[in-house]
Amino acid sequence: MLYLIDQTALPQKKKYIQCRTHGDVAHAIKNMTVRGAPAIGVAAAYGLVLGAAEYTGNDIENFINHIDTVAEMLKETRPTAVNLFWAIQRMLDVVRDNRGKPVSDIKDIMLNEANTMAQEDAEVNRRIGRWGQELLKDGDVILTHCNAGALATVDYGTALGVIRAAHEAGKNISVFADETRPYLQGARLTVWELMEDGIPVTLITDNMAGYFMKNGTITAVIVGADRIAANGDVANKIGTYSIAVLAKENNIPFYVAAPISTLDLSLESGQYIPIEERDEQEVTHIGGIRIAPYGVKVANPAFDITPHTYITSIITELGVVYPPYSENLKNLIKNK
Ligand code: MRU
Repeated sequence: MLYLIDQTALPQKKKYIQCRTHGDVAHAIKNMTVRGAPAIGVAAAYGLVLGAAEYTGNDIENFINHIDTVAEMLKETRPTAVNLFWAIQRMLDVVRDNRGKPVSDIKDIMLNEANTMAQEDAEVNRRIGRWGQELLKDGDVILTHCNAGALATVDYGTALGVIRAAHEAGKNISVFADETRPYLQGARLTVWELMEDGIPVTLITDNMAGYFMKNGTITAVIVGADRIAANGDVANKIGTYSIAVLAKENNIPFYVAAPISTLDLSLESGQYIPIEERDEQEVTHIGGIRIAPYGVKVANPAFDITPHTYITSIITELGVVYPPYSENLKNLIKNK
C-alpha cells in the first residue's frame, strides 16, 4: 500500500489517500493528488512496485511483459516532467538487470530500489539547498512560482529547499509566493508549507509580480523545473516564462533549482519538450465555482518554456551551473 498526501485537499485538510494498485497511483498522478516532478517520479516507482505485487505467477517473461504494461500506463499520466520517465526507466532497468532471479526476489529488489530513490531524493534536495543558499543574501525577498517544495518532492523541496536552507543558515530572507493560476499551487501549497516552517511569506496574485519587481521589493526569483533541455531551456509551471522576462527587465537574478534527474540532455532545446494541456475546467472554475461564461473557448497549457538566456544559473545537487549551459550541463554529468 502506498500512502500519499492528498494535495488536492490542502490547505483545508491534511489527509492521505491509499493506493492499492498501480492504477490507483496512475490516477493519483493524473488528477494531481500527487504532483511536482520529483514526487510523481518516486510515486510512479512505487506504482511499479504495486504493479509487480499484482502479478501472481512465476514466469519471468510474463512478469516482464506485465511490468512493461504497468510502466506504459504510468507513463501516460503526465507528459512534461521528465522525472516520471526517468524513474520508470530506472525501475525497468533494475527488473531487466535481475531477470535471472526468481520473480519474488525481483519484487523485493523493486521495492528496495523505490525506497532508495525516495531516500536519494530527500538527500539530493538538501544538497541543492546547500549550494543554492549561498546565492542568497540577508534581506533578500524571493519570488517563487508554483510549488517546488517538500510536497512536490519526497522531502525539503528544490526551490523551497534553497529557501529553507537559507532560513536554516540564519539568513534574514522572506518569500513572495504567487498564487499560480489556474491550479493555485502557490496559494494552496507553497504558502502552507512556508507558514508551517515559520518562514515569512506574502501571497500575491500572478499579475502582481512585475509591480513588486519594479518597485524594488523582490530581489531574487527561484523556481523549480519539470524538464531542462541540453541548452538550458527550462520547462516549468505556466507563468514561469513571464516571470523570467520580468526578472531580466528589472535586473533581478532568476534561479532554477532542480535535481539532475530533471535534465533531459537528449533534447537539444526546449521547443522539443511536450507541454501538457489540462482540463478546461481548471480555467473556467475556481474552487469548484464557475467564473467564465458557458461555451467559451479555453486554453490550458500546464507548463511553459523559459529560454536559457533568461536564467542566471541552475542549482543542482552537484553544484551551481552557469551559462553556457550546453557545455556546462554536459560537463556536470560527465564529471559526476
Ligand atoms: O503541475 P505541477 O503542479 O505538477 O507542476 C509542478 C511544477 O511546475 C514544479 O515547479 C516542478 O515540478 C518542480 S517541483 C520540485
